[in-house]
Amino acid sequence: MLTTAPADLQTAAAMINKGQVVAFPTETVYGLGADATNESAVKKVFAAKHRPADNPLIVTVASVEMVQRFVEVIPAQAQKLIDAFWPGSLTIIMEYIPGKLSPIVTGGLPTVAFRLPASPVTREVIALADTPIVGPSANTSGKPSPTTAQHVWHDMHGKIAGIIDDGATRVGVESTVIDMTTEIPTILRPGAVTQEELEAVIGTVNSEHRKVGADETPKAPGMKYRHYAPDVPVYMVTDDNWQRAIIWAQQQLEPVGIMATDEVIKANHLAGMDYVWSLGDGVSAANAKLFAGLRYFDDRNEITTILVQRFADEGIGLAYNNRLGKAASGQFWTATDFM
Ligand code: TXA
Ligand code: MG
Repeated sequence: MLTTAPADLQTAAAMINKGQVVAFPTETVYGLGADATNESAVKKVFAAKHRPADNPLIVTVASVEMVQRFVEVIPAQAQKLIDAFWPGSLTIIMEYIPGKLSPIVTGGLPTVAFRLPASPVTREVIALADTPIVGPSANTSGKPSPTTAQHVWHDMHGKIAGIIDDGATRVGVESTVIDMTTEIPTILRPGAVTQEELEAVIGTVNSEHRKVGADETPKAPGMKYRHYAPDVPVYMVTDDNWQRAIIWAQQQLEPVGIMATDEVIKANHLAGMDYVWSLGDGVSAANAKLFAGLRYFDDRNEITTILVQRFADEGIGLAYNNRLGKAASGQFWTATDFM
């Protein structure tokens, strides 16, 4: 475990330069870092995550200059997004100069995803290493993304060289991914930067994630895999169903995990009870607490089912519902099916 002390950041940068894998904090989730220009280092990231080779990695940079090393020119619209949202939770897909990046990084695509995270610690490490780092979430493929260094350790110990611990992440769900190579820019993954905020800067934006059905191939290869999933079934619960869902949960012979807002917890007299995980006071807090709660119950082997609060499909609720929907394989708890 590395700290955020300058000497440890130097150590982390040296590890990156030696081709080792180091987990790093961002404001969204922890990432697995390795020199994006070093093929054998990047291969170690795929191996540590058990990640399918056709799923391209994000290239994490510390400055716009690092993006310029790989692209002919940053398109004007992309530049507007950079000015408005970087450093921050937006990943921008652009075309790169053929040959400038390994097909191992890009999954053989002619496009690459760039991200400049808000975390000063990580920007410092990348700047010290003077090379962009690949940055997939630091979880085993298919599991919830890590929002603490302990989550990373749980999935990665023995497999990587180090973890930089900067405490719990603030946002809690991964960055918004926008493809700037389509005629109309397209959101491939919803995140903390919303469609409305993007449209205020660059005009009309499509959102791929709203229409991808089970049989279609999503544009972001990563979105097609089962994801964020504990080993036991997860069901989404809407506000109007909580009361009945809790009665059902209490009737089960095996314990059921409940992840709900403080309001729901209070209204149903669940405060302080075992098997209850607070999602805080609203959707923003819930984003920050969702993955940790799924991991918490996943590690408690007596839990057989997890019930989780669903939010309205608007603003950052879209990012939350997208991740929860994958964890739950789209299943809702309804009185008709369960009681
Ligand atoms: O917040 C985040 O973005 C975190 C932190 C660590 O930076 N990283 C992250 O990376 O979530 P990852 O690899 O778990 O997710 C990246 C997503 C995947 O769904 C991947 O398929 C997609 O972006 N992606 C990457 N490059 C792409 C490309 N050239 N075209 C389309 N999709 C791409
Ligand atoms: Mg991921």
